[in-house]
Amino acid sequence: MIECDKVKTIPFGGDYNPEQWPEETWEDDFRLLQKARINIMTLNVFNWALLQPDETSYCFDKLDKVMELTQKYSIHVCLATSTGAHPAWMARKYPDILRVTQGGMRRKYGRRHNACPNSPTYRKYAKALVEELAKRYADYDNIVAWHISNEYGGICYCDNCEKQFRLWLQKKYGTIEELNRVWNLNFWSHTMYDWEDVVVPNMLSEEFEDNGIRTMFQGISLDYARFNSDGMLECFNMEKEIVKKYMPDVLVTTNFMGAYKPIDYQKWGDSLDFVSWDNYPNYDDGPAEIAMRHDLMRGLKDGKPFALMEQTPGVSNWQEVCKLKRPGILRLWSYQAVAHGSDTVMFFQMKQNIGACEKFHTAFINHVGNGETRVFREASGLGAELKEKVKDLTLGARTDAKIAIVFDWDNWWAVENSAGPSRLLSYVEEIKQYYKALYDMNYDVDMISVKTDLSGYRLVIAPLLYMCKEGFDKKVEEYVAGGGTFLTTYFSGIVEDHDLVVCGGYPGKLKDVLGIWVEETDALPAEEANLFSYGEKTFPARILCDLIHLRGAKMLGAYQKDFYAGMPVLTKNSFGKGNAYYVGTRANEGFYQIFLKEICDKLELKPAAYTEPGVEAAVRVNNNGRFLFLLNHNPCETAYQVEEPGAEILSGRDYAAGDMLKLGAYDVAVLLREKDFRQGSESTV
Ligand code: GLA
Ligand code: ZN
Repeated sequence: MIECDKVKTIPFGGDYNPEQWPEETWEDDFRLLQKARINIMTLNVFNWALLQPDETSYCFDKLDKVMELTQKYSIHVCLATSTGAHPAWMARKYPDILRVTQGGMRRKYGRRHNACPNSPTYRKYAKALVEELAKRYADYDNIVAWHISNEYGGICYCDNCEKQFRLWLQKKYGTIEELNRVWNLNFWSHTMYDWEDVVVPNMLSEEFEDNGIRTMFQGISLDYARFNSDGMLECFNMEKEIVKKYMPDVLVTTNFMGAYKPIDYQKWGDSLDFVSWDNYPNYDDGPAEIAMRHDLMRGLKDGKPFALMEQTPGVSNWQEVCKLKRPGILRLWSYQAVAHGSDTVMFFQMKQNIGACEKFHTAFINHVGNGETRVFREASGLGAELKEKVKDLTLGARTDAKIAIVFDWDNWWAVENSAGPSRLLSYVEEIKQYYKALYDMNYDVDMISVKTDLSGYRLVIAPLLYMCKEGFDKKVEEYVAGGGTFLTTYFSGIVEDHDLVVCGGYPGKLKDVLGIWVEETDALPAEEANLFSYGEKTFPARILCDLIHLRGAKMLGAYQKDFYAGMPVLTKNSFGKGNAYYVGTRANEGFYQIFLKEICDKLELKPAAYTEPGVEAAVRVNNNGRFLFLLNHNPCETAYQVEEPGAEILSGRDYAAGDMLKLGAYDVAVLLREKDFRQGSESTV
């Protein structure tokens, strides 16, 4: 698929579940889907029960027939391994495969993603199934990728997990003394004498319910989150290795879920040949939130293109309110994914179910059963456009962002596990404030991990860097000393990797580069705000207000109220050749817009384009040239004054600088400035 020469055009298609339909209907589906120009199907996602009706027998007859049809209709296949839901016989015979919930309840057979990742029985049967599948389908040259399991997620607290957790800890910490240290176990007489004293941190032990799940021991719950994510990664790698044994060159992936808290996708990135993910925004999510998730996914493999594995053509059944995608949105959001780095446009699903919870999830072929629907027309229109206009032009293109936002799963877990200073802290919400301001100005942004090399960026923003991990402080210092601009916020630099406070004054190891000392932090209830001045304006200070002393930094803004009125809230420190900013509170959208614009202007950073509000611009570059994607999220026509000449690839029109490019409601344009675009002549029309 990605970087794979088997698909010459952008892969377009998605999940098809023929096992839910009589065989006689399959070929009609293929004919109709071919009309929609699909060229790829994800197959076999939840098929284990039919593939393996009991412990010892396998039956591939149906899948063989479907695979034959894919060959007959020249459809590429993303073949899944079906291990995302186990068969009933397995649960009946081996209850140890069933997960135990946070509440300590052993589940019965039901739902999906229902197997304990650390169950030896589950792993044994998953391995055996994948072995059979890989052996059988190794020679199908229309398989362009393998899709391991499905949307790994959730968390298990069973006895298998407890045992494995102890081993995971032994490997990580070596001695029980070290475990006592990193978890601070002399608190509340928790000192452990033996690894057997370790129990899973759920409701039966350290966790409790109080307006959400909370924990008494942050270090234990944090390590459990890491362990749970690692266990699922082991399952992924186990299956991947089997696939690679039979097809060393085939690409292997699994579908991620964007900003999904239980799985540390950054740790998984290296194990996937390409990242793929499922984009299901809530009906009230804005385009900035979607864009941020795309960028987060692109960052998992250092900016390599990813695959949009799933999105709904219409509605997702599981939303509280299943609002229809307005005409044009299917196309707009598909191009938005491409604009942010996707090399595919794929959907869930090709044909709508008739029973169970997804029967009201839109598909290409809906219950009416033909192509005479708005959704089918929109989908097939997009299929044709991608095939005829976009072709393979954008494949492999990269985003050349000069701004990075640090996103870190450990911080996400740790910040939100924290008992104090405020339950209003939301890691993703805080990051969104910064992302949205940059998005609104059309800056391309990379969402990076703490491991990413910073040297290519002019501005690095690390909101809520509560946990400053081993070495990251030095990395930031070097980056700033070398001329970089760094920005972090309140509640940063507080702890090290085990959630133990770094003594000597906040923000810990970041004190020098920021040139400040945070003496205290005031938490404000949601309805309260302090105020601070910046430039000519005044902005609210919410959630947390750091009480800052300058230790070399300059004050850019001060609180206006309460006993800390006059104390700095915003600071800037020159450090070597660069600067480090500190935003000591949560402000509002107006502030982030002004503040980040000033920083970007000072750094002379150019946005992808200067557009009217509601028109998103993003750039990707490959050997074919520079693609400027213009996405009109407005429900009305909006014009864009072309800044650089280019060929609009969807309409085939050439534009010169200064021309007005009209975008209809929810319309898209892709301006290609070829590498050698009409060299020497700037007026092109
Ligand atoms: C997920 C799953 C699919 C399907 C869709 C429905 O993304 O991977 O199998 O259930 O949700 O929205
Ligand atoms: Zn378990």
